[in-house]
This record gives sequence, C-alpha cells and structure tokens, in this order.
Amino acid sequence: METAALLVAAGSGERLGADRPKAFVALAGRPMLEWSLAALAAAGVGRVVVAVPPGFEGAPGAETVAGGQTRSESVRNALAAARGAERVVVHDAARPLVRPELFARCLEALDGADAAVAAAAVTDTVKEAGPDRVVQRTLDRSRLWAIQTPQAFRREALERALDVPADVLARATDDAWLVERAGGRVVVVPSTPANFKVTTPHDLQVADLLLRTRGVD
Ligand code: CTP
Ligand code: MG
Repeated sequence: METAALLVAAGSGERLGADRPKAFVALAGRPMLEWSLAALAAAGVGRVVVAVPPGFEGAPGAETVAGGQTRSESVRNALAAARGAERVVVHDAARPLVRPELFARCLEALDGADAAVAAAAVTDTVKEAGPDRVVQRTLDRSRLWAIQTPQAFRREALERALDVPADVLARATDDAWLVERAGGRVVVVPSTPANFKVTTPHDLQVADLLLRTRGVD
C-alpha cells in the first residue's frame, strides 16, 4: 500500500519568538524540520510532502506545498498534494526528537483502525477545575494519554474528517479529533515524553542539548 508522510512546518512559531518560522530555526546544527526528515528517511518513508510558510517553498529539499492559516489547513493542503497515497502519516516539524520506529509502529497499528496516534501515558495527576479554580473532579489517570505526532491515517478517513467548515478546522488541535468527530476508530500507540513538542525557548534549549548528545540511532 502506498504511504506518504505529511510534515507540517508552516506555523509561525509565535510562542518561540525566533527571527524565522519555528521549523526553520537552527537546532543542533540543522534547521529543525531536517531532524524529522532524517527520521522519516530512516523509517523508509520515501515520499514526503512538507507544508511550508510563504517564501520557504524551495527550502527542505523535499516536495513542498503552501501551508494554510491553521494547522489542519496545512494538513489538508499536504494531503491533496500526496495524490495516490492510501495511507498517510502526519508529523509536526515541531517534534524533532521523533524516533524512526515510531512512524513504523503508527502505520502498523492502522490495521483495524482509521487512525493510529502516538501518545504518552499521563504521569501527573489531572484535575478538572472551573473558571473559579475550584476543583470539580480528578480524572482516572490510568485511562489518560497525552497525544503527540506521528498520527497515521487511512486516506479516506482523513479526507472525510478534513471536509468540514473552516471554524471546525480551526478548533482542531489534532487531526485525530476530526476523525473521532466523524465516527472513526482511533487507537493510541504508546510513545514517551521524549518525543516532546518544541513550543517555547526552554523546549528549544532542551531539544538542542538532547540532539547534540544523541548517539547514532
Ligand atoms: N503548523 C502548520 N500550519 C499552521 C500552523 C501550524 O503547518 N498554520 C505546524 C507547525 O509548523 C508545527 C505544528 O503545526 O510543526 C504544530 O504547531 P505549533 O507547535 O502550534 O507551531 P506554531 O503554530 O508554529 O507555533 P505557535 O502556535 O507558537 O505560533
Ligand atoms: Mg500553533
């Protein structure tokens, strides 16, 4: 079955506050998105479409498409470009610490599911509070997962899920939620907190240290 990776790299990185879009910020000697491109190559995913901000079309040495206003629009644009791929694996360029085997495990877990998403078991106790900060309840931690990327999808499931009005797309912090809304079957694939998302300058510093000291995979 033909597989393509959709690497979303079109965000501005407002919370990082660097002088360029986050995916193009230098991290341990190379632009951030190149760490994910290397992991995809090591995983044997040969076909990659990268959603990039305006002006960065030629940059990654892979096929690029213009990103959208929101993350899900960027995914939709990349999916349209990945014609013919029956399975896709979506990954955030902002998760440069991803290990190649995680792509493979998400794709394998698509047997019997519409989507398979990397996730770390929650280790903190999670409480729900109202706007007044009064705790309403404590959730059962053993059932909670912090969702990451990669997220693998059957193409039809993702296409259908993304075919929604712009305001719904804008509310989606992950594509799997859109598949859930459409009644699809989504499974979690155990990952670890080491595959964290670079959001703040602190995250960038930690990722830089880890990647500089990482041995050969
Ligand atoms: N992304 C994208 N297109 C958008 C918004 C986000 O391709 N319109 C991508 C980012 O490049 C990133 C991933 O989605 O790889 C996760 O988003 P996030 O961490 O929020 O990145 P940014 O939107 O760039 O950061 P911020 O929200 O701080 O501006
Ligand atoms: Mg964002």
